[in-house]
Amino acid sequence: MNEKILLLGSNGRLAFFIRKIHPEVLGYDKDRVDISDKEQITNLIEKENPFLIINCAALTDLEYCEDNPEECWKVNALAVKYIAEAAKKINSKLIHFSSNAATNPVNEYGKAKLASESFVKEKGLVIRTDIYDAKTFIINKLLFTEEKINAYNDVFFNPIYMGTMAELIFKLKDKTGILNIVTKEKISFYEFALKICEIFDIDQSRVIPVKYNENQKVKRQKELYLKPDINISIDEDLRRFKDDFKR
Ligand SMILES: NC(=O)c1ccc[n+]([C@@H]2O[C@H](COP(=O)([O-])OP(=O)(O)OC[C@H]3O[C@@H](n4cnc5c(N)ncnc54)[C@H](OP(=O)(O)O)[C@@H]3O)[C@@H](O)[C@H]2O)c1
Repeated sequence: MNEKILLLGSNGRLAFFIRKIHPEVLGYDKDRVDISDKEQITNLIEKENPFLIINCAALTDLEYCEDNPEECWKVNALAVKYIAEAAKKINSKLIHFSSNAATNPVNEYGKAKLASESFVKEKGLVIRTDIYDAKTFIINKLLFTEEKINAYNDVFFNPIYMGTMAELIFKLKDKTGILNIVTKEKISFYEFALKICEIFDIDQSRVIPVKYNENQKVKRQKELYLKPDINISIDEDLRRFKDDFKR
């Protein structure tokens, strides 16, 4: 039986957690395949002939995407079309990651992500999400510096820990369509920062609530909440993040 899993974008943050759970996956990153090169990615998929393709490859720097819209479109949208077509040809399942930024998109990243969803049809699964780990800006600042941080109290989301996501992917692999894989409560960035302080015993006065400033280079939605298709609370998810962090 073909059990080969191809992981694209294998040096990325989410891919790190996937490889930790499933070290047997066959990982390819940008140095070995450029997903936006149709010939390269098609040949790779045909050569490896996996039963499952997990696409974690993307340009995720929103400012870079805003400055380089063509490249953003090529990697975050068009490349997904090539991957989906090649997957269909060999009858392989594709799991692709989209973002809460794809809901009523206001920036280049979100627009490309929304387009990418339309290319993953029939046998594919699109996971819409917002994910965090210790490298996420707010968390990183709180855990690894003594600095005070500003956090929006009028921007709302429901993020999920990358470790939780990595495990869920394999449970969801037989699903198709678009799923919102996020925690269940709608919270502001400020409330999220306070929860990080609480769980890691950090002084909450380091978090300053601020209003979202519209005059920024990259526009962002204030409403990033996704109606969840799973039932995991943010507190349960953060405890898991903390447990992994301690190990
Ligand atoms: N992190 C978040 O907050 C978040 C939120 C919502 C959705 N997502 C989505 O979840 C997925 C995983 O995100 P992540 O945070 O793990 O991203 P990440 O850490 O930025 O990893 C993306 C990987 O893709 C690689 N890549 C970029 N261009 C490529 C190309 N042309 N060909 C092949 N590989 C390429 C990158 O390589 P280089 O580093 O060498 O460029 C990097 O290793 C992405 O689809 C992302 O859009 C992430």
